Amino acid sequence: MNAAKADRIPEDEASLQLNDHGELRHLLTLEGLDMPLLVDLLDDAEGFLTPEDNLPARSDALAGRTVANLFFEPSTRTRASFDLAAKRLGADVLNLDVNTSSRKKGESILDTIYTLEAMRCDIMVVRDASVGVPAYIARHVKDHVSILNAGESDVSHPTQGLLDLLTIRRHKGSFADLTVAIVGDIRHSRVARSAAFGLQTLGVGALRLISPAAMAPDADDMPFANIIDNLDDGLADADVIMALRIQRERIPNLDGIPGPDEYFASYGVSRNRMRLAKPDAIVMHPGPMNRGVEIEGALADSAQSVITEQVANGVAVRMAVLERVAKSLERR
Ligand code: CP
Repeated sequence: MNAAKADRIPEDEASLQLNDHGELRHLLTLEGLDMPLLVDLLDDAEGFLTPEDNLPARSDALAGRTVANLFFEPSTRTRASFDLAAKRLGADVLNLDVNTSSRKKGESILDTIYTLEAMRCDIMVVRDASVGVPAYIARHVKDHVSILNAGESDVSHPTQGLLDLLTIRRHKGSFADLTVAIVGDIRHSRVARSAAFGLQTLGVGALRLISPAAMAPDADDMPFANIIDNLDDGLADADVIMALRIQRERIPNLDGIPGPDEYFASYGVSRNRMRLAKPDAIVMHPGPMNRGVEIEGALADSAQSVITEQVANGVAVRMAVLERVAKSLERR
């Protein structure tokens, strides 16, 4: 990473998100969204959750709308859940295969967007490795188009943040008395950052960011969090533990990064180490996991783990976001 994160994020990113009526038009970041809106989104998502042995929730809220998934970085969970969420709301869905798209022939991202806009795509879901791409697109699209950030470099993954908040709320209720510990490669993680800003907005009691020095965040990026380098100290009496993978694709020089065994010994979250946390603590991971590196496989499969619930909640959260931005487009 070069410049501090805050210096690389477009200044207008947060303010682009609401339309003139104060409604969510684009979802680019959780920063700048207030508590009532976050709570409304979580409540809406709850409404889309059904028991595992029931059929998934469906509606026709997006009937006639077209959602385009544009993933310029790999994804399993986010892409599949946006696809399913849009289909379960009755939308037409276009999953652009970027590897066989005309981007490979030198077409600019804006020309790709304008092409899809002309085909009447209403909502474009964008994942990109570069900071500022979702906001850049949002600044250039027509009034009838909404942009949803599905993962932006190392700075923002707002729907992941929302699904993490929903998962915590469903297990723990209020955020005010909670100690949340996020463990691992905080510095290169968009997941940690979105979760942190969402937790801050919802009034979390304490937020600990635990990592080796090479993976610690900029001191002034999330000033409301406690930065800790010792895992045992960070886990002590925590209510929620979120393990993160090492984001190798975003680390320019891997020379100082420990190997899997060394990393697990110091920063791997295991059943043994979970004894330091509260007895009813939950364990989260955004996926994809590297078992035996940042998390013990047996812990990921244990009763304390809510990792598959996070995945299920992700579809519901994306339905809630799609429904809400579609409503904002309806006014025009
Ligand atoms: N958590 C997450 O963003 O996973 P994917 O990369 O599989 O979408």
